[in-house]
Amino acid sequence: MSTRRPIVGGNWKMNTNLASAVELVEDVVAQCQTCTAGCDVALFPPFPYLNPVGAKLGHHAILLGAQDLYHEPNGAFTGEVSAEMLIDLDVEIVLVGHSERRHVIGEDDFLLNRKLHTALAAGLTGVLCIGETMVQREAGQTQQVTVDQLRAGLEQIRVEQMRQVVIAYEPVWAIGTGRTATPEDAQAVHAQIRTTLAGLYDEATAAVTRIQYGGSVKPSNAAALYQQPDIDGFLVGGASLKADQFLDIVRSTVGATA
Ligand code: 13P
Repeated sequence: MSTRRPIVGGNWKMNTNLASAVELVEDVVAQCQTCTAGCDVALFPPFPYLNPVGAKLGHHAILLGAQDLYHEPNGAFTGEVSAEMLIDLDVEIVLVGHSERRHVIGEDDFLLNRKLHTALAAGLTGVLCIGETMVQREAGQTQQVTVDQLRAGLEQIRVEQMRQVVIAYEPVWAIGTGRTATPEDAQAVHAQIRTTLAGLYDEATAAVTRIQYGGSVKPSNAAALYQQPDIDGFLVGGASLKADQFLDIVRSTVGATA
């Protein structure tokens, strides 16, 4: 089991509406009296609901997160959202390079590295998401793809900035499919990520950097995944839309204390 403080995020993606987003955050807060005592917990609602969700979080220790940001501070970038705008809304943590940004929207490693730099410079925690497709996995390229994405995403990120970085390993074939990586398969990739971090930085940095797993995480599989030594929490999609399921997943990292 991981020795690092776990971190569990609920990525709501392009789901909910104003009423259901407010209801969901109210349910999470009501059921999470002490769930942040042993675990960092973050919610990533759609941009339009950041403000109402943040208002419901109030002074609760749950972190308000954004699903994306743009790397420029302001200007003629129609439709984009800057780090400063997120900070205005009390956002503390932001996803960078979620597989749907990479594979559906078409963002590349160079852009994602600029976004991560911008997030960290603004004082946000950045969750750098990496992971291989099924075609890449079947071609035996899992290690190469994940290491390449990690190196490219962290280009010119300094060692002291790594305190603000979380890595999320999300195999694309496991996202929203009901297919989860086995604990052993996920652990193998997480260990490879940590070894790569040791090479890019140093052993101490690798030892404290948290690596989340994402891809069809449910209450029924979270505990077994969390038994692995290099899995430090989860990035949850579908199951985060149900407060009880999401909190069950949080509890799987902190035992009965939540
Ligand atoms: P699912 O949990 O729905 O597979 O989504 C995972 C994910 O993409 C979280 O960012």
